[in-house]
Amino acid sequence: RNNDRINRELVGFKPVAISDVADVRMPTISEDYEYQSFIPWGTPIEPGITNEYAGDPNTRPTSAEAELQVGIGHDGMWFFPIDFDLQMQYGRRYRARSDEGMLCINHEFGRNSHVLGKSGPESLEDVRLSQHVHGVSVLRIKEHFDGWRVESSPNARRITVNTPVEFSGPAASSSLLQNPAGNMPLGTVNNCGSGPTPWGTYLTCEENFNGYFGSSTMSSDEFNAARTEEQARYGFDFDGFGYGWHFFDQRFDLTDPNYVNEQNRFGWIVEIDPFDGTKKPVKRTAMGRFKHEAVAIAESADGRIAAYMGDDQRFDYCYKYVSNEPWRDVIERGDSPLDDGKLFVARYNDDGTGEWLELSINNPLLAERFSDQAELLIYARVAADILGATPMDRPEWTTIGKNGEVYWTLTNNSQRQLANAANPQTPNSDGHIIRTTDAGDHMGNTFTWEIFLLAADTRGTEGVFTDPDLAWSDASGRLFIGTDGGQPDGLQDQLTVIDTNKERPEAKRLLVGVANDEVTGFTATPDRRTAFVNLQHPGDGDPSRTNFPAAPDGVTIPRDSTLVLRRKNGAVIGS
Ligand code: FEO
Ligand code: CA
Ligand code: CA
Ligand code: CA
Repeated sequence: RNNDRINRELVGFKPVAISDVADVRMPTISEDYEYQSFIPWGTPIEPGITNEYAGDPNTRPTSAEAELQVGIGHDGMWFFPIDFDLQMQYGRRYRARSDEGMLCINHEFGRNSHVLGKSGPESLEDVRLSQHVHGVSVLRIKEHFDGWRVESSPNARRITVNTPVEFSGPAASSSLLQNPAGNMPLGTVNNCGSGPTPWGTYLTCEENFNGYFGSSTMSSDEFNAARTEEQARYGFDFDGFGYGWHFFDQRFDLTDPNYVNEQNRFGWIVEIDPFDGTKKPVKRTAMGRFKHEAVAIAESADGRIAAYMGDDQRFDYCYKYVSNEPWRDVIERGDSPLDDGKLFVARYNDDGTGEWLELSINNPLLAERFSDQAELLIYARVAADILGATPMDRPEWTTIGKNGEVYWTLTNNSQRQLANAANPQTPNSDGHIIRTTDAGDHMGNTFTWEIFLLAADTRGTEGVFTDPDLAWSDASGRLFIGTDGGQPDGLQDQLTVIDTNKERPEAKRLLVGVANDEVTGFTATPDRRTAFVNLQHPGDGDPSRTNFPAAPDGVTIPRDSTLVLRRKNGAVIGS
């Protein structure tokens, strides 16, 4: 237990200094730590089932091969110890395995230039390859004497945008989720952050789903003239982010009359059971449809849960979902605590108080706009607009601190002109972190809040970082922050650690990534002596910037990868 404080400081490692970062083709880690690069894009999800780019590391897979490999765009993830069922049975005093488990990992996105080696798809096969590198991987992983490896498991699998899924909760049978084509619900996409549930499942969050849709028949002007208020609010346009799926796969064509509601099937939180590969992923509609960044669940003393969620867009909102019943009761009878509950959106008052505004059809203001709770949940952003939620500076991850407080990363907002107390900078180039404390043990309708840290205040210090994104708090009060957005002072995106027990937050840099990457996704083993963090889109796929995880050679295509982190003296991560 005392290993937690191997030094006098809770966060006692020697930080990476600005001057330590010399060659950004490889990561720089604190001299007290070591890393193993792990499961790069293209790793077989089970040993021996497909070639890991045998021979030529620059050979691209077929779409069929990609479906059996770890995808690209590594983002949110979670380690579930292989004996999670015993931990459930015996509670926290049971010491779960820290050397073997199921790893669920999101594959948020991969640009065509990186995945296909060209700007757009030229065939359905190209589209399928792009689709199959997106999604989620479920892997069995185990520590050996020489490091971590992927092992065989009947539950190892890839979930892509073409995998059968089901809808659950109040909107599940809404006509707005049915197409004239009658196609079954398939898949998940742009899986950004994530969070575990107390009952041992994985929640993956669909963020920029709008970017995969487009119109094969309309010009920009024609599409903008025809698009609905809801399509505009969710950011659909005629060519999306340039993936071009809609030219070969009608599901993603916004103007194909047979698939008019396919667009509503994305933007959800999706539950995956890492221990049962036969179960379909389930889209939990009670948690609302928006650009879900990530989710963090807190348990109240009465056994109910609160899920804290950000909607990552400039001027979008912070949300909370609360289950109506204690989760153990609901799970025991075979239902889901994520299907029956209330959804709220946050209003931050300038005096440090806040209110959770319920998104309910029982509110006359919302009943005037929506026909039922299902439609309200499908267009949750529009409902939140009506209630006067506070527009934020891009809400990214949430994490529950040591004392039940919630940290919200606000990554930046280049377009903010009008400040409010919770978003005080105009423009907000560097981002900030807000700390909220809920009334009523996470079950209340009010909260208090404070600015925990303005990233701009770290400028000119050794701990400088900007664009906070990933957030994970351990049980001792260490807050891990990953950045996304290019860093000052010649740094690259980084992982930094803050002792939240201290009055003044001080960031200590544990890791600096490689050129043009993003440091995101974090999970640790139950003993906290091993952690996993992702380097996403190294070099933006350009081999002249980095070849990571390969050593610098100028030609090998860089691959999104996980880093396994260990403190050299075996103490807990962050110490
Ligand atoms: Fe997928 Fe908002 O980062
Ligand atoms: Ca993010
Ligand atoms: Ca960000
Ligand atoms: Ca990002």
